[in-house]
Amino acid sequence: MSPLHVTRTLPEDATGAALRADVRRGLTAEPKWLPPKWFYDARGSELFDEITALPEYYPTRAEREILAARSGEIAAASGARTLVELGSGSSEKTRYLLDALTSLAAYVPVDVSESALVQAGEALIAERPGLDVHALIADFTAPLDLPPTPGPRLVAFLGGTIGNLLPVERAAFLASVRALLAPGDGLLLGTDLVKDERVLVRAYDDAAGVTAAFDKNVLNVVNRELGADFDPDAFDHVALWDARREWIEMRLRARTEQTVKVPALDLAVEFAAGEELRTEVSAKFRKAGVTRELAEAGLELTHWWTDGQERFALSLSVVR
Ligand code: SAH
Ligand code: TRP
Repeated sequence: MSPLHVTRTLPEDATGAALRADVRRGLTAEPKWLPPKWFYDARGSELFDEITALPEYYPTRAEREILAARSGEIAAASGARTLVELGSGSSEKTRYLLDALTSLAAYVPVDVSESALVQAGEALIAERPGLDVHALIADFTAPLDLPPTPGPRLVAFLGGTIGNLLPVERAAFLASVRALLAPGDGLLLGTDLVKDERVLVRAYDDAAGVTAAFDKNVLNVVNRELGADFDPDAFDHVALWDARREWIEMRLRARTEQTVKVPALDLAVEFAAGEELRTEVSAKFRKAGVTRELAEAGLELTHWWTDGQERFALSLSVVR
């Protein structure tokens, strides 16, 4: 069994410095916001895995259905020898691709969550002794330095995570993915689709309150890392459908007027009663928009697969 290779491209203190900069910017802005990548500490990754099993949260099951049905076609179209996965998390659905890609030599999962990455990587090398797993602890919104594994390369970005980037960030992100690809390489992109508002809102505001706990976990991260005194119980989780921008917006709404201290930033943050802190968007897509955004990044959509209920899509695109 080859050992798990782990490379950290976030310098040891980058996380701390970046978190401080993001929290200062977000909490002094109007309206207040916090960026989503800070959801995923060890507890956040665990809570996300719980979300994927909720009856209301259909995206994981819909995407798994597509992968189960189409991995053979995806593998045939790609012929990849290296599978790079951005925001790989538990790598659970990825197993369909790993099974189907018969010429695969290396799997390169990339995630900011070290705990999720190491747990998933250890499990995979135990299951698949021949596979070279090279885990990269890195921010996929920053330039990536991939290990020198054999091509062709398939870059997978699953889970609808692209929807958590704002439109301008998405364009920059797709351009940076395009820059990683050579002729013959491909991008396999998972996008959640526009659908009935009630179905969407329930997926981000479940009855058991797991999504609320996940949303509030970002406050725990700021408390732990920056010594802040957020009281998560003093906020309500809110999920709204923005019909114009076609995204779900997650917010934390202060129940009462309060002041939160952030000692590491020497900052006191005032919340009015009912004031909302924006935590995350989750954009929903249509085929025409995905095709256009890929084209603008220099990628040509060659395949589009959906689940039986057309809730979610996987697309394959190549360098134009
Ligand atoms: N692909 C998995 C997990 C999706 S959740 C699935 O489909 O179920 C999103 C994942 O992206 C989490 O594991 C989170 O830690 C990771 N992530 C979020 N922002 C990131 C960033 N900027 N850079 C790298 N990983 C990120
Ligand atoms: N990529 C996931 C999505 O947009 C992330 C996610 C699921 C999420 N539920 C959430 C992010 C709740 C914040 C809050 O579907």
